[in-house]
Amino acid sequence: MKDGVIVKVRGLKGRYELTSKYIQAVDGCSFEIREGEILGIAGESGCGKSTLAKLLLGSSMDPSLKHLEGTIRVYGYSIGDISEDKLRKEVRGKKVGYVPQGSMNALNPVRRIKKIAKDTYSEKFGENISEKDIKREVVPHLKSLGLDGERVLELYPFELSGGMQQRVVIGLSTLWNPGFLIVDEPTSALDVTTQKKLARTLLDLREREIVESMIYITHDIPTLRQICDRIAIMYGGKIVEIGNMEDVLFKPMHPYTKALIDSILTTEEDIGAGSKRGISGQPPDLTNPPSGCRFSPRCKKSGQNCEKDEPVLHNVGGRKVACHRVVENE
Ligand SMILES: Nc1ncnc2c1ncn2[C@@H]1O[C@H](COP(=O)(O)OP(=O)(O)O)[C@@H](O)[C@H]1O
Ligand SMILES: [Mg+2]
Repeated sequence: MKDGVIVKVRGLKGRYELTSKYIQAVDGCSFEIREGEILGIAGESGCGKSTLAKLLLGSSMDPSLKHLEGTIRVYGYSIGDISEDKLRKEVRGKKVGYVPQGSMNALNPVRRIKKIAKDTYSEKFGENISEKDIKREVVPHLKSLGLDGERVLELYPFELSGGMQQRVVIGLSTLWNPGFLIVDEPTSALDVTTQKKLARTLLDLREREIVESMIYITHDIPTLRQICDRIAIMYGGKIVEIGNMEDVLFKPMHPYTKALIDSILTTEEDIGAGSKRGISGQPPDLTNPPSGCRFSPRCKKSGQNCEKDEPVLHNVGGRKVACHRVVENE
């Protein structure tokens, strides 16, 4: 794509349409990702991070999810406009790899890894592939991820460590060099050493040009620092701050970013001022979000206009921030 932009999202809105209510989980997100770039996404649970990921793969990822407004272009494909068939055959797995949240725990416990790999192929190509072909294709890829591919294919998921399961999931999501990879909270159940190894594995995938760009969703600040070029902070279905990783983590501007970084447990003393406080209150109910700034009910800096007018992202010192107070002070 022009200017090396691989992913371009504009004014994206998506909601879950349930029988009794609508949940406005993604409410006006815009950003782009360039070739070679890893964008981290952080924010409390329920802020719309996983929904944003699903929309990027086509809202049919979830039957109750509807892509309401806005555009998504990925490698020239206009995701909201193309048929399910085209998404399946040309986009998912081929252009966009996806490691869904909880995918490690979702490995079918009663199937050996070779059967799970076979399912992955049949889902994609709708045909039966022989075990010999599976081995020929999957073993070298798993080996390149540091796994004994031949042995792993014969095992059941419970026979693998958490770190190995995660690498199997990443391996199966990147079999066809997807270019753009979305990894949703992969490390929450892993210990620190395994998290670091996983981050290294992802960087290796980029170095080997199996993927060129990524979205990495996590609360794990050390991993964000290790792998991300830029970070977006989500709150209540919106991006409230987006910019270079170092700027956002070390000099957060939005009061929510500050509170989030303060509250996230980290072993690194230079971030979060050493104090680990929770953020008081709850993220907004997305069936009926507050007017104005969605963070205003919890924000210490909230003033009159914050409850009335919805802030939009403004360029502030090389990044974008959606906060009335920050813009006033510039
Ligand atoms: N499959 C679903 N059906 C209905 N509501 C959902 C579904 N998945 C998520 N939600 C709701 O959408 C909102 C955003 O959720 P999600 O995107 O999972 O946030 P995050 O990944 O940031 O934790 C939440 O209010 C959540 O309860
Ligand atoms: Mg999530």
